[in-house]
Amino acid sequence: MNQLALHRKLAMKDLQDLQSAKPENLFEQRLETNLPLIEDLFFSLYTSPEHRTYFKKLKKLLPELFKKRSEELKYQDLRLLKQGNWYQSNKITGMQLYVDLFNKNLKGIEEKIPFFKELGVNFLHLMPITTRPAGENDGGYAVNSYTEVDRKYGSRKSLLELTSKLRENGIYLMLDFVVNHTSDEYPWAKKALEGDKTYQQYYYMYPDRTIPDAYEANLPEVFPSTSPGNFTYRPEISQWVMTVFNSYQWDLNYTNPDVFLEMLRNLVEMTNSGVDVVRFDALAFLWKKIGTISQNLPEAHQLISLFRMCLQVVAPGVIFLAEAIVSPHDIVKYFGEGRREGNECDVAYNASLMSLLWNSIATKKTLLLQKSLHNVPQKPPSSTWINYLRCHDDIGLGLDDGYIAQLGWDPWLHRKFLIDYYCQGLDWSPAVGYKFMENPATGDSRITGSCASLLGLEKAMRTLDAEMVMISVKKILMLHGIILSFGGIPMIYAGDEVGTLNDYSYLDDPHKKQDSRWVNRPSQNWEAVAQLSEPDKPSSQIFIGIRHMISLRKKTGVFTDRNNLVVHDPRNSHLFLYERTAANLEGVLVVANFDESPQILDAGILSNLGYVNDGSLRDLLSNSKWKLTSSLVQIDPFQILWLVKD
Ligand code: GLC
Repeated sequence: MNQLALHRKLAMKDLQDLQSAKPENLFEQRLETNLPLIEDLFFSLYTSPEHRTYFKKLKKLLPELFKKRSEELKYQDLRLLKQGNWYQSNKITGMQLYVDLFNKNLKGIEEKIPFFKELGVNFLHLMPITTRPAGENDGGYAVNSYTEVDRKYGSRKSLLELTSKLRENGIYLMLDFVVNHTSDEYPWAKKALEGDKTYQQYYYMYPDRTIPDAYEANLPEVFPSTSPGNFTYRPEISQWVMTVFNSYQWDLNYTNPDVFLEMLRNLVEMTNSGVDVVRFDALAFLWKKIGTISQNLPEAHQLISLFRMCLQVVAPGVIFLAEAIVSPHDIVKYFGEGRREGNECDVAYNASLMSLLWNSIATKKTLLLQKSLHNVPQKPPSSTWINYLRCHDDIGLGLDDGYIAQLGWDPWLHRKFLIDYYCQGLDWSPAVGYKFMENPATGDSRITGSCASLLGLEKAMRTLDAEMVMISVKKILMLHGIILSFGGIPMIYAGDEVGTLNDYSYLDDPHKKQDSRWVNRPSQNWEAVAQLSEPDKPSSQIFIGIRHMISLRKKTGVFTDRNNLVVHDPRNSHLFLYERTAANLEGVLVVANFDESPQILDAGILSNLGYVNDGSLRDLLSNSKWKLTSSLVQIDPFQILWLVKD
């Protein structure tokens, strides 16, 4: 049993009648229960005798932090604790958005609550809203403060107003905690730049290249074209500062326990604005060690679990999302392994599914998708995925070269094909995407572009090709139909629900034009939303289709994530076939055709799985039932079915 389940169990009686529950007593109980784990984790990272005083500081800090949490949130914590693993529910659908691009500011988000309700969205990921450098700031991921809201978005007060409105409307909120680095304008960085030795030790700083070179021997580069290398020289202090991401994002030195204590304060203060899920940004990078790539290290896991166990004592309702775009085997470790199972993060991005879906669209085949999914390690029962197609970042081709080779393809050529397919290297490809962080030496690149543009809508509209428009709409709906049924929180990237195309305005902004990820960070197209009653518009068809699927998902209990996903062999390389199983009759079998021609599925497969009833099939999505007239079932191009048994 993980710690959260234990707290739920121990608090069972109090949770039955929340009004008379005493949050203080339950805090004491959680503190006592988690303290042995916290102690172990703390001393596994901070091993020298002088670190004992820091542990005492931590023990004193936790009650102080709890006192600062508002009464309302203390009860909200208990409500969420009582709800259990709410994040696995089929009733949750997420949307990720930039506040300013969506509707100006936090007040503007509040005004759009009816829009979220209309679509069925009840989980929001708001991109960074705190203060940041005026120039380049990596979309706010260079933070000047963890708590002070940037004036452009509003104030702490407007954030509190928004979160309270969201709670009233049953909408969960996720905000980023940029835990790996601060901007070079953060107060600690400023003091370090003034020569303050205490704050220089909050970062990794070296007077010459000896240690940086030793690190560089193994460290990969995250942004090789715009920010090569992992260290930046600061002449003001004659020091090399570790900057794994951009040169203005300084990596925090967690070997210094003061950094951990201060960041824990920041974390709690940030969640005190009413956050339900903390997106732990770039968490794979938290611990560095010479001689390694300094990603996914065991110490990083201990540190994340330490943050989690402490936050759980203070705010048991708040959960963690792992933002680790790493291999499936490394991703599942963020749910916690062994004794830490369920005591790190509860949710993680399903980056493999995302890149495999894009691979399947380009190849029109699902072989790599199936092979890879069969080899994804099982995640703990308390955890779930975020399933997504696009987000604010690029698409990295995190595909397994071994599997590509096993399918008889050359991995290098295969990747080159995908990059050419999506980034306008092939005349016949419908996709309009762009290269990101291209490495001319290796030919390696990542891909940017909006969902709709990558799926052909931009080219189709430009060439006024009605059939291509229709195909693109079908592809968009099919892929959304997959993330909405796959198991986990579907996260729609704002704009994709109306098929928003690439946005080229970033090229006019000197602080953005180097970073092609901005091509897929468009302003919300409210005009398309205003015209939803015009059914001929692709934007209306996409919106109506997605809204319909969200509403069906909510009515279909088997879509709750209980690790009840089985990927079946469709015996047709263009089809994707998986089932959300249930002990009773309520399973759903999903069939999707990635090819532009109709494909055939052996009815025997459907019948063996129990989906042929009275010689008929029933599809939830089209709300239709039809008699089988042959032993082969035809699946139309880019069609998706959600078959049920009755
Ligand atoms: C995460 C964010 C990305 C950002 C990076 C550095 O990967 O998603 O946008 O550039 O962290 O903070």
